[in-house]
Amino acid sequence: MKVKTLILGAGAAGMMCAAHAGPDTLVIDHAKAPGEKIRISGGGRCNFTNLHAGPDNFLSDNPHFCKSALKRYTQWDFLDLVARHRIAWHEKTLGQLFCDGKSLQIIDMLRAEMDRAGALLWLRSALADLSHDGSAFHAQIDHEGSRVMIEARNLVVATGGKSIPKMGATRLAYDIAAQFGHQVTDTRPALVPLTFSDQRFAAISGVAAPARVSNARGSFDEAVLFTHRGLSGPAILQISSYWREGEEIVIDLDPEARLLNDLRMQRQTSGRRSVANELARHLPTRLVDHIAPEVLPKGNLADHSDMVLSGIVDHLRHWRLKPTGSEGYRTAEVTLGGVATDGLSSRTMMSETVPGLYFIGEAVDVTGWLGGYNFQWAWSSGWAAGTAI
Ligand code: FDA
Repeated sequence: MKVKTLILGAGAAGMMCAAHAGPDTLVIDHAKAPGEKIRISGGGRCNFTNLHAGPDNFLSDNPHFCKSALKRYTQWDFLDLVARHRIAWHEKTLGQLFCDGKSLQIIDMLRAEMDRAGALLWLRSALADLSHDGSAFHAQIDHEGSRVMIEARNLVVATGGKSIPKMGATRLAYDIAAQFGHQVTDTRPALVPLTFSDQRFAAISGVAAPARVSNARGSFDEAVLFTHRGLSGPAILQISSYWREGEEIVIDLDPEARLLNDLRMQRQTSGRRSVANELARHLPTRLVDHIAPEVLPKGNLADHSDMVLSGIVDHLRHWRLKPTGSEGYRTAEVTLGGVATDGLSSRTMMSETVPGLYFIGEAVDVTGWLGGYNFQWAWSSGWAAGTAI
């Protein structure tokens, strides 16, 4: 069978690309349904983009690479598409846009756009062999119990990264990149909970607090969640993309820098209140109880000088922790790193050495923050390749 374009992977990027690559496009995926990560994303409501999406929200060895695609297919373009399909949405926080209904609406929308474009979708199909003869790709696909030979002028690799192998994530994109002489940068789990070997937070598992979590490379103001295995919550997932084994992170439990002033004022008006009770007005009680033995002096507010209060606040604002590891690809939302951008056109996502070969979406070394940015990259890079074909 001969097609103009073969797309590997019917996830966010592959479907978007298929919607723009024109007729004579075949999309294959080994899953039994398209867009499985879209379905489970955002707690079933899909955080499909972010109002503030821009190049600064992405990590890559080349921070300029994502600019062209993000600028040419923006969050507003995706919102237009969502509006045309009458999908209701809302902003949750920090520009994060979610469906009012289910994330299946986004999958149905992409399927409808693929149908409109005349693209064909084969599910439960796997690539058995791939070669290129200088002008066309030859793929052997195992489909419905038989092996089918596909000849295609264009091959788009949209098989994503390594996160959540249970959902069918594979390293196919990296293998194809290597086969055709492309580099793959170091990959690691990102947007992932961090762990401690001593389970030190087990007693306060489930407690959450707003915080600023930082290291030398990044800083995020969002919630931290204490878990049996360590730390999670949006602020931790965000910093995990910037963290490396052996490094510390710093938690600031008073990001708005109000605590010292409040403690001083309360010392005047409610001096007989204990320091712990006063802190529990600002932080979850279980967290205060957990911190107390190491950080809080005995006695009431009135017993303590400015210097002591300032020392307490200093501790709470510079809580240094050295995680042992992360929960890994088992729970990571994305893979950091991927097919090196060096050998790809930032305008079209096409290989600079193998004409007709494209890499899009999470497979590429472009990784977004938490909050709808990764889908925006899938839409923008998928659109860039699709419209270039
Ligand atoms: P994606 O992984 O979506 O698609 C790859 C496709 O290729 C899959 O359909 C897979 O079956 C197929 N495939 C893989 N290997 C294959 C092989 N060997 N043969 C055939 N097919 C193969 N992002 C965001 O912006 N907002 C959010 O709310 C969330 N939420 C979220 C929750 C959870 C639990 C996860 C794991 C991830 C998110 N993300 C997210 C991240 C987002 O899901 C992710 O970045 C995009 O789905 C990437 O889109 P791609 O199309 O590149 O890969």
